[in-house]
Amino acid sequence: MNLVVFSPGYLGGKMVDALRSRGHDVATMKVEITDLAAVASVLDERRPDAVLNCAGKKGTPNVDWCETHQVETMRSNTIGPLILAQACGERGIHLTHLGTGCVFYGPSPDPAGWREDDHANPSATYTRSKYAADLMLTQMPDVAIVRLRMPIDDMPNPGNLIDKLVRYPKIIDVENSVTVVDDLIVAVIGVIEKRGVGVFHAVNPGTMRHRDLIALYEELVDPTHTNEWIAEEDLVRQGLAAKTRSNNIMQNRRLPELGIHLRPIEIALRDCMGKYAVNVARNR
Ligand SMILES: NC(=O)c1ccc[n+]([C@@H]2O[C@H](COP(=O)([O-])OP(=O)(O)OC[C@H]3O[C@@H](n4cnc5c(N)ncnc54)[C@H](OP(=O)(O)O)[C@@H]3O)[C@@H](O)[C@H]2O)c1
Repeated sequence: MNLVVFSPGYLGGKMVDALRSRGHDVATMKVEITDLAAVASVLDERRPDAVLNCAGKKGTPNVDWCETHQVETMRSNTIGPLILAQACGERGIHLTHLGTGCVFYGPSPDPAGWREDDHANPSATYTRSKYAADLMLTQMPDVAIVRLRMPIDDMPNPGNLIDKLVRYPKIIDVENSVTVVDDLIVAVIGVIEKRGVGVFHAVNPGTMRHRDLIALYEELVDPTHTNEWIAEEDLVRQGLAAKTRSNNIMQNRRLPELGIHLRPIEIALRDCMGKYAVNVARNR
């Protein structure tokens, strides 16, 4: 396929490499996605079969940045995806957009977890901006939204949940749905190739506690690692975060309908941590 990927950063770079290794012809574009004329010009020049949007503001050093940069956040995470969907829609091009499962906070109506068609309850600026895009894009005929959660990667990176957690001296221990990046790649490429439409939850089946990840890190990467465990409420109370973080369990119901199956989290996490250990040792 002939593809355009908009503004690859951390995850987009991984997607581009994986798409190219599968033989797709991929152009990467660092254009401002809120600029309709610039986006249209790229699409008219490249005439892609499909577009992948990996652009977005998630905040540096973390999502609390979005609370103090609300306009920039909404422009990139809400207006930008709408512009892309408009430009793609006018040309009959399929669009896949990276969403987040952090739009859900807390217990779900269905005890099995939040479903793709559930109404979300975001509270932070980042999650509100992402959900606002989801609400609009799900009205459009040829758009897929792939929601991921807290990516876990085999390469060290500031965006990798492994690096984030092991860096914190104080950690909360919560049960969550999470996404191993190798499995996210399978999900995104599958959705693009099968021209999926609507919301997809790209979370590994099963759940993970932060303690599970840290235990595996101490087993496979660094047995000398230590941290303090704190209660969830202490994160904001102790000034470690400006806003309560999303913690949730999600159902992954729609990917299997397309024949796309992600590995159970226990298997994917151990595989990922094993590769991470090798990569850390190689970088030393
Ligand atoms: N990483 C995660 O933990 C996570 C979890 C769930 C969902 N997601 C979603 O996945 C997507 C990619 O995340 P990522 O981790 O790869 O983020 P990233 O490394 O920050 O990459 C995003 C890229 O988009 C660019 N960008 C931001 N606003 C733009 C705009 N208006 N026009 C053009 N480019 C723009 C950024 O450039 P600047 O650096 O110059 O702003 C950056 O190069 C985001 O939509 C994010 O919400 C990520």
